Amino acid sequence: MDDTQLAELNRAVSVLQNKLPVLPTIAIVLGSGLSKAFGVPGGGVHIPCSEIPGFPVSTVTGHTDDLWVGEIEGKAVLVQRGRAHYYEGYPLDKVVFSIRLFALMGIKTLVVTNASGAVNTEFAAGDLVLITDHINMLGRNPLRGKNSEQLGVRFPDMSAAYSPRLCVLAREAATAEGIELKEGVYLATLGPSYETPAEIRAFRSLGADLVGMSTVPEVIAACHAGMEVLGLSCATNLAAGVDLGARLSHEEVMETTCRVGEQVRQLLLAIIRRF
Ligand code: HPA
Repeated sequence: MDDTQLAELNRAVSVLQNKLPVLPTIAIVLGSGLSKAFGVPGGGVHIPCSEIPGFPVSTVTGHTDDLWVGEIEGKAVLVQRGRAHYYEGYPLDKVVFSIRLFALMGIKTLVVTNASGAVNTEFAAGDLVLITDHINMLGRNPLRGKNSEQLGVRFPDMSAAYSPRLCVLAREAATAEGIELKEGVYLATLGPSYETPAEIRAFRSLGADLVGMSTVPEVIAACHAGMEVLGLSCATNLAAGVDLGARLSHEEVMETTCRVGEQVRQLLLAIIRRF
């Protein structure tokens, strides 16, 4: 990251902090369709992303693009509704801009959510899945370029990128709420085209359970900045070729997230309660 990018981030930190009633300790990124489903509580403040200098604004339908900061389950929480994807054309440093912003604000806990295709044939559309690890098939890394020591080390360890401690909390929360929570490895592709059946077979043999077009750059940036990460995915559809004859569409993805949105909300609240 060059000095201009770091200066831009530091400027965004001070602009955002000046708009906040409290300093959040937890950040949640809501993926496709989940923004609407989560429905932040009353109170708190809404900050349009366009008011934060340098913040990328997502172009995908189904995203609302704002930050909400307020109290959830007695904790000061920041909720990011909408994210920038690499396939939209943003450089990776913009894709991870918000994560670095949160890290520089002192937020130590990050919850990332997304919609994904189920590569694992034991999964069904609508399953909620705890992400235990990932495979980066983007062929890119957001840490490429000069390292900023203010953020983290040159060669960050990714052995426990998805915090085992937070995975325990998520399992406990799911059990307590009677919500079935599957577990799996998320593989990130560039998109925006969905995968071919041959790609899905290849990804399965590589150890992927889920496939999607987001999250991995954000988790790399969060790990770099020393954040503890929890990943939750909604398997919105069976991946290409799993259901022979089926066709994939963004409408199906949005429909499924709407259908299970309430469960995601319930699970997230139960997790936040345990933080
Ligand atoms: N592939 C990639 N990304 C996705 C999918 C999929 O099948 N479903 C939701 N996001």
